[in-house]
Amino acid sequence: MEIHIVQTAAIGQLGGELIARQLRSKPDSILGLATGSTPIPFYKEWISLVGKGELSFARARSFNLDEYAGLPRSHSQSYWTFMQENLLRHIDLQASATEIPNGEAADLQAECVRYDRMLESAGGIDWQLLGIGHNGHIGFNEPGPSLTAGTHVVELAEETRQANSRFFDSLDDVPRQAITVGMGSILKAREIVLVAQGEGKADIVSQALTGPVTTELPASFLQLHAKVTVVLDEAAASKLPASLLGSTRGVEQL
Ligand code: F6R
Repeated sequence: MEIHIVQTAAIGQLGGELIARQLRSKPDSILGLATGSTPIPFYKEWISLVGKGELSFARARSFNLDEYAGLPRSHSQSYWTFMQENLLRHIDLQASATEIPNGEAADLQAECVRYDRMLESAGGIDWQLLGIGHNGHIGFNEPGPSLTAGTHVVELAEETRQANSRFFDSLDDVPRQAITVGMGSILKAREIVLVAQGEGKADIVSQALTGPVTTELPASFLQLHAKVTVVLDEAAASKLPASLLGSTRGVEQL
């Protein structure tokens, strides 16, 4: 596991360097993408680099991690809309090469099977970007007595609905279900980049990276993955134990 601690304002720049490295080594990469506040600095930087002609997604393909169930695509808070507004509309990734689970599908189970088949026939994820929920979820793989390997329908944890209610008019408007790529597909990604920023994530980041590996904290399974890059700002790294901090380069100046 490689841990980078950078100033909050430098997270985007590092995100640009990481994707550029990936696309240089494999221009036709299968990228696993996330939504929420965390990836926004990455996406802003990617848009800027594409605008300057320094980065191209033209040969890449993307699979998003998750989507709310029951929200129309056109809803302002659907992850489909989020991706169009915050990334896809502004870069040269082909529209036909971007996949997001269809939360409007009449048969959600069939949609999960369809999504897994597409992922499998694409050969799996080369480079997976992840945020982390306050309860340790990745994608919408919520803590519990067990985890699911493949894409599945999930009941959102109350904590997750509350955290995401900041984007909706009220808590009641936050969907109760979502479709998420499962833990098996995430852990099969050839490289994983986990990003967290802010003091509110400090405790869960520390537990995920150093605590017991448990289904009650899905992100803890990243400890078992061979190639994880963790990008933290100082606040999110503030609870990491000295043993782990010693293996980092301190706050890096980019
Ligand atoms: C979103 C996703 C979630 C978020 C997590 C953190 O596609 O998969 O796991 O990464 O809920 O959300 P933010 O970044 O808003 O703190």
